[in-house]
Amino acid sequence: MRFYENIQFTSESRKSPRSYYIPGGCSQYLLLNGEWEFAYFNRDIDVPEKIEQWDTITVPSCWQLHGYENPNYTNINYPYPCDPPYVPTDNPCGVYEREFELEKKWGKVYYLFEGVSSCAYLYINDNYVGFTQGSHLQAEFDITDYVKEGTNKVTVKVLKWCCGSYLEDQDFFRFNGIFRDTYILQRPIGHMEDVQIIPNEKTIHVVTEGICEVSIAFEGKELVQTQMENEFTYEVENPVLWNAEKPALYDVVLKRNGEEVKFRIGMRKIEVSSQYELLINGVSVKLHGVNHHDTHQYNGWCQTDEELRKDLLLMKELNINCVRTAHYPPTPKFMEMCDEIGLYVICETDIETHGFLRRLPNVEYHFDMESNDWPASTLEWQGEHIERMERMVETFKNYASIIMWSTGNESGHGVNHVAMIRWTRSRDNSRLIHCEDASRKEQIHNADVYSRMYISFEELEKAAVTNDICMPVFLCEYSHAMGNGPGDVYEYNEIFDKYPKLIGGCIWEWADHVVMVDGVAKYGGDFEGELTHDGNFCCDGLVFADRTFKAGTMEAKAAFQPIRTSYEEGVLRVFNRLDFSNLNEYDFTYWVEVDGVKKEEVTLKLDVAPHESVALEIPYEETTCRYGVYLNTRLTKAEKECAQTQHELPYKKVEETVREKSLTLTEDEYHIYASGEGFQYVFSKLYGGFTSMIIDGVEQLAGTSKISMFRATTDNDAKMRPFWANVNIWQGENLDCAFTKIYECDICDDKILLKGSLAGISRKPVLLYDMEIKITVAGTVEIGFNGKIREDATWMPRLGMEFTLTEQASAFSYYGRGPWENYCDMCHCASVGTYKSDVDSEYVNYVFPQEHGNHMNVKRLTLGNLEFQSEDDFECNVSKYTIEDLDQAKHTDELHADGNVHVRIDYKVSGLGTASCGPDLSEKYRFSEKEVSCKFKIKKLTNK
Ligand code: GAL
Ligand code: MG
Repeated sequence: MRFYENIQFTSESRKSPRSYYIPGGCSQYLLLNGEWEFAYFNRDIDVPEKIEQWDTITVPSCWQLHGYENPNYTNINYPYPCDPPYVPTDNPCGVYEREFELEKKWGKVYYLFEGVSSCAYLYINDNYVGFTQGSHLQAEFDITDYVKEGTNKVTVKVLKWCCGSYLEDQDFFRFNGIFRDTYILQRPIGHMEDVQIIPNEKTIHVVTEGICEVSIAFEGKELVQTQMENEFTYEVENPVLWNAEKPALYDVVLKRNGEEVKFRIGMRKIEVSSQYELLINGVSVKLHGVNHHDTHQYNGWCQTDEELRKDLLLMKELNINCVRTAHYPPTPKFMEMCDEIGLYVICETDIETHGFLRRLPNVEYHFDMESNDWPASTLEWQGEHIERMERMVETFKNYASIIMWSTGNESGHGVNHVAMIRWTRSRDNSRLIHCEDASRKEQIHNADVYSRMYISFEELEKAAVTNDICMPVFLCEYSHAMGNGPGDVYEYNEIFDKYPKLIGGCIWEWADHVVMVDGVAKYGGDFEGELTHDGNFCCDGLVFADRTFKAGTMEAKAAFQPIRTSYEEGVLRVFNRLDFSNLNEYDFTYWVEVDGVKKEEVTLKLDVAPHESVALEIPYEETTCRYGVYLNTRLTKAEKECAQTQHELPYKKVEETVREKSLTLTEDEYHIYASGEGFQYVFSKLYGGFTSMIIDGVEQLAGTSKISMFRATTDNDAKMRPFWANVNIWQGENLDCAFTKIYECDICDDKILLKGSLAGISRKPVLLYDMEIKITVAGTVEIGFNGKIREDATWMPRLGMEFTLTEQASAFSYYGRGPWENYCDMCHCASVGTYKSDVDSEYVNYVFPQEHGNHMNVKRLTLGNLEFQSEDDFECNVSKYTIEDLDQAKHTDELHADGNVHVRIDYKVSGLGTASCGPDLSEKYRFSEKEVSCKFKIKKLTNK
């Protein structure tokens, strides 16, 4: 056994953990980020006494992104045998070295790592100082005896693996190196060590060993200044409490021996009500959360402070009020920002042992704790479990934003969790304890919240009403935001709002994890030498890797938004979902749109207390129009939109005045011809579609129109689909390879009548249909469709007609739901109106190309010389890619635009759901009708 494989020696000379602060006053802070010398070895045993050849590397960084080894993404599987505590014999090692200046040596000197993976040996001036494990936890060493005045040298030997790696099996790219800030502190002799500040809703209580000066101020005004010894309690007069909406912070400054240590402290109280609500300062709060991994498309685990701040500000913009630090503690700066910006935090320690699930072949998904193989239930691992909890709690205990401590993720539930929880309760009982596996393993009372991941609407409602669960119910993960989606986030939040006991949850997850190579987002399996990988399962962010938004992002924003509205009999009700803010801090606007044209708009301040509602009388007289009437509302702050809602109002439809006469059609063996003033159409009797539509001398079609039911499989359509597998899409009907058969096609009373079918390869037809097509003297095509889906067929992705148009159709306008793409379970982010768009704007660059760009509630789509219309709502999609091309490409650079415009006019499209990891698509969002009949028209538009 090698040193780093010994679970009993996970550190050497590392100081005991303390609360995070960077001391000021006379103390010095020397940040060592920047260029370091670097030498990489395939085996740690090859590192020579004296390294002759150095490269350079930037710190912080992940060495896999600087040319040393390839990235590797694995989710559950360990990237080496599951044989704890041993790691592979050939253990790669990176040696870092640089100089630093100590102008004067006068006090105590410390060396700190905020993050180094997987373990590090620290040397100063060639002398060994100590050793640490625990990649995402702070490590501090006393180097006073090793440094001298003037130039010094620091050397850090980092190993790829150590026994601690078994506890760090999170679902991410496995990176190594010094990936967070590393620095030196020089502090006066006799400086403060740990400082604990315990606020509640009345007092601020400061604890630190020895005598020091303490002062407390609020908004620049000093409230108290005094000397304290060991403890000090200050009762704040008229305290301004901290909450995520109004994150008020008090400044607490401690001074001793010329050193100054500053904290920003939020006063707040966390409780659970008798109805098991989560109370923040006595107010029931719902968590609108998201799981955050540190991830960057070029820098892997390294996010700068500015990038982290940007993440948090974007979350606020999306009405997110909570973040779970999945699945390890962040850099302390992150927590400072959460305190300041206002987010509730579930702070999770650096433990996940998910890979034990896969230590045996062919075992079902089962945390078999009874085997006693898992670190959570193995006593020799207990010290390290408690230590990882302790290091987190000690470092972060002064942050108001943290409302729960979490014992880690997916590690089963064993005695070591119980020990961690016991330790935590004794150290800090002001917060709730989160331990998802305690709930999964039916040990719910070990923790303070019942926490589950990916349960269905039904299971969630069951948990809400069962009397067996006497604690708040929290979804630590839900709405798996992979690819096009999440399709269920709004509905989950409606359920949260219905039951006091449901306190909300955290979407999985914040951003896609990718590695950009030559402008293309890459994922697991894209790199040479990946021995096990999980494909694109790491691309499951609510935002893209570059933090741009997709429709799913906006859907979450809508699910979380500060208001809900309803409209009935001339009264608009506005409900304030905020917990601590009156709606009068926002501007509220409403207006009516008739056929997409905005009528007079009214902006006002609504005086509505949190969790209250107001009724506004907005009388409305039924209007006559073509497409529809909607009442729209919008809530803004500083001109930024925070919420929008829409209600359909009744209207009288304008009657079509002229009924266009049919045109006389001609035919030959395979075709039917229609020509009139300014148009010539050709219809194929073989394929049952138009092959040519010439309008004013210009060909509109670039292919034959057809009936189709397939959509390019989304990540959520193919439950955990390993992309390399040859799956029978669509759930066995093989719709990806479908054949059209036209059994009969004739002219009858100047109409085209046909009977046809659609069948997947090797399968019995899934759809039998007939169509009646009338072409009028004015060149309008009127299509009537009747279809029967095979009784025993499963639900279908969609059903409609596909047209291939020429490039001139690439810009278009529509009356329908937009501008974001929308599906029946992801449509709160888009409202009905008139929109202009083009094929480039419709494209959504999902890392793994897939179905996108749908619009619901469409009444009119105008492109080229054609206008598609229907009396009933239809769904449409306009793309520069074919469905097949989108389905086959695995990366964005594998897409081939063929220069044509691919249009879908759909009767219906199924919802998206989140089945890539979550429950199956809810039945109500599946297109499972067996009989369909619909009508639509294609009008000819003339340029003249
Ligand atoms: C959960 C896990 C996450 C992530 C997610 C799938 O089971 O806790 O870390 O793997 O599934 O994306
Ligand atoms: Mg996992």
